[in-house]
Amino acid sequence: MLGETARTWLKRWDEQQERYSPDREERFQVILDVTRWSLERASPERPRIVDLGCGTGSLTVRLARALPDAEVVGVDADPMMLGLGEENVAGTGARLLLDDLNSPDWPDRVAPGEPWDAAVSSTALHWLEAEDLAALYGMLAARIRPGGVFVDANNRMPEGSPESRALARRVRDARAERAGKADREDWDSWWKAFLAAPELAELAREREQRAIAERAFAPPLDLTLDEQADLLKSAGFRTVTTVWQCGDDSVLVALR
Ligand SMILES: C[S@@+](CC[C@H](N)C(=O)[O-])C[C@H]1O[C@@H](n2cnc3c(N)ncnc32)[C@H](O)[C@@H]1O
Repeated sequence: MLGETARTWLKRWDEQQERYSPDREERFQVILDVTRWSLERASPERPRIVDLGCGTGSLTVRLARALPDAEVVGVDADPMMLGLGEENVAGTGARLLLDDLNSPDWPDRVAPGEPWDAAVSSTALHWLEAEDLAALYGMLAARIRPGGVFVDANNRMPEGSPESRALARRVRDARAERAGKADREDWDSWWKAFLAAPELAELAREREQRAIAERAFAPPLDLTLDEQADLLKSAGFRTVTTVWQCGDDSVLVALR
């Protein structure tokens, strides 16, 4: 049990993430709005929702609190992030799996042979290589029931030209400035402090033994929104639409 330590790190994580997604709370609410809308159309008794790359459980915990009748499962390959996540979701009924999204086995650990009502993700899937992402989308299209939904919030460029990239980035940076979040701790300094924290040394040792330790700082995949939408349609999603956007920050919805 990390107790107060976990709470401090969880807060520091959320604050750091808001530097890159200044409207992150609103973005979480949009994911919830879309999930609710999808669930209302089918009214499953105990909806099953999976959070891909859940990290410290920021989205998982918000889903679990907002939808207390749902089975909410978070998946992440990083034992340090998940260590904080366990404390974050404690008491909500949400369940976390320490698994690599690239492995073929983990979906069966959610609920063997049972369909999912929704999959969601926040700032995570850009870490996957293109072919792993395509395989993940194929798995999602097979697991999510018809009428179910995949909601992906991430920083992705609307289209690929250098000008549109610069513009989208400028709009997001200006928004961060106005929201008073532009000078928040950055990604590199957060990770430096997190990995060196004496109170987290045991989790850090566990992390060192896993592939994610080498991947965390690798250059992420740089798909545009259109390219991501094409991949989702090829995987079997019938409609793909962007429902929220500010600069390069957006929420993409794929319907089964
Ligand atoms: C920027 S964090 C976002 C965490 C959380 N979704 C949030 O919004 O705060 C990205 C997360 O994706 C996870 N991740 C990256 N590649 C992964 C993979 N192949 N399998 C599982 N998790 C992965 C990382 O461990 C990390 O926790």
